[in-house]
Amino acid sequence: MVTAYDYPFAIHLYTAGIDICLVGDSASMVVHGHDTTLPISLDEMLVHCEAPSRITAAKAIAVIVSFFNLHRLFTIYLLPTISASNSTLYAQLNIVEGKMQYLFDESGKRYLDAFAGIVTVSCGHCHPQILDAIVEQSKLLQHATTIYLHHAIADFGEALASKMPGNLKVVYFVNSGTEANELAMLMARLYSGNLGMIALRNAYHGGSAGTIGLTALNTWKYPIPQGEIHHVMNPDPYRGTFGSDASHYAKEVQDHIDYGTSGKVAGFIAETIQGVGGAVELAPGYLKLVYDMVRKAGGVCIADEVQTGFGRTGSHYWGFETQGAIPDIVTMAKGIGNGLPLGAVVTTPEIASVMAQKIQFNTFGGNPVCSAGGLAVLRVLDKEKRQQHCSDVGSHLIGRLSNLQQKHEIIGDVRGRGLMVGIELVTDRKEKTPAKAETAVLFEKLRELGVLVGKGGLHGNVFRIKPPMCFNKDDADFLVDALDYAISKLQGHDDDCPKVNSDPEGADSTLPTQVDPELLGGWLGCETFVAVFPGEGDLPVYAKRHIKTLQDIPLNYKVHL
Ligand SMILES: Cc1ncc(COP(=O)(O)O)c(C=O)c1O
Repeated sequence: MVTAYDYPFAIHLYTAGIDICLVGDSASMVVHGHDTTLPISLDEMLVHCEAPSRITAAKAIAVIVSFFNLHRLFTIYLLPTISASNSTLYAQLNIVEGKMQYLFDESGKRYLDAFAGIVTVSCGHCHPQILDAIVEQSKLLQHATTIYLHHAIADFGEALASKMPGNLKVVYFVNSGTEANELAMLMARLYSGNLGMIALRNAYHGGSAGTIGLTALNTWKYPIPQGEIHHVMNPDPYRGTFGSDASHYAKEVQDHIDYGTSGKVAGFIAETIQGVGGAVELAPGYLKLVYDMVRKAGGVCIADEVQTGFGRTGSHYWGFETQGAIPDIVTMAKGIGNGLPLGAVVTTPEIASVMAQKIQFNTFGGNPVCSAGGLAVLRVLDKEKRQQHCSDVGSHLIGRLSNLQQKHEIIGDVRGRGLMVGIELVTDRKEKTPAKAETAVLFEKLRELGVLVGKGGLHGNVFRIKPPMCFNKDDADFLVDALDYAISKLQGHDDDCPKVNSDPEGADSTLPTQVDPELLGGWLGCETFVAVFPGEGDLPVYAKRHIKTLQDIPLNYKVHL
């Protein structure tokens, strides 16, 4: 048995609180001071490294140690807080770098990002012009708050208002979509003098105590009082009782106002394409009909554009425009900042005036760095004509996916607009039975093939394709080919619980299924650490940083067995 203490780099492991023990072809890691033991075989370790025949033992160890240390920290300090997002979670993926529509894990493996950090990276990961704006503003002034005047905030507010139709001209900056929807609901209640809010079933509007009330997916709702919220029938063309007939769903809203409220409501909130709910587009014309009813009942209409805004739908800049309706309040976040913590509420001067009765204040809302970044996002989207691009690439993607639907029974529905696309998987097209287990397997299989998508819908059986807007037709083709391949392999099995990994002819040729004896020899007999990273120039920045640490290790050090 060899323990990590015999290795020079064991110092790093030891200070990180990790023992590594190699026993034959298996190894285990023991975390000091915790009961956690993470047993792992050598080939499992190597699965975390791309193309193991090309990597050297030391690089493998560096990657593995880093991975396990990270896993340990997540398990101890973070997992309880992120477990609720398990419908979209890649628990085994450590993403360390991003470039436009691509992400890299710590072993340097590249992934096509078709989910954009949950529809957030609008222009592309680390887009150079957005980075420049953030860095330049950070050098001048990071924080001031809106108690002072500042050009970045004013310029951003003006630019954002210029993108809005009608009299939507007053902008409140916040830090997230949840905050934006909280504020919008507050405005609706204050302005209307009523309490009741109407929201759609299958909606997601946030995770705070207030917005959980608006959200209507049991997977995201804690059992707390949700206030006076009325969840009406979802005008879902695929699963809804009335198909695409907006007038029937709208009539149900009127019934609800007449029978389930005092006749007066504070407001109505809806996404135009439900994101978390699985890229469900509302029946055409629905919003216009419902906005009229809600206004007649004294309420205001809120469009949640957290996912659908900024040209992603291709045909329009805002999702509500696809329904020919103009809301009274628009909430936005995610794509507005390309990854910066930023959100906004835009409303009319009339509604904003009720907020002036008290002090409405948000310490970081309108932060100069986020404002400079947000303004850069708007400029990049215009300069790079991303709305048109989303339309072109989106039609190509949806076209190819629709063809794939003809080939594979499991694809029950392909829907969406621009680069906001959903693929709903079912085990029975007629019954529309959610293919929950199959979706989970395909999700992992796509990851192995280098494609990251999102999962959504109440049953987690919808793939959500919402990439950075620079995603191109080649990327779309790669995604569809990968999905085609993965589904073909899945359908080659008739197990109750399909396991793509057990397919002997799977696409796993780049991943080891057995320990390669040569590699094992290389691992244990590794001569020097200088030869460890021959292709250093090709490695992403994170890996280079890693190498520097390892280069501190004396050269020509022999591993003694
Ligand atoms: C439509 C919609 N609204 C609101 C939110 C909440 O945004 P945040 O997570 O930034 O609070 C989300 C988040 O996924 C969302 O998709």
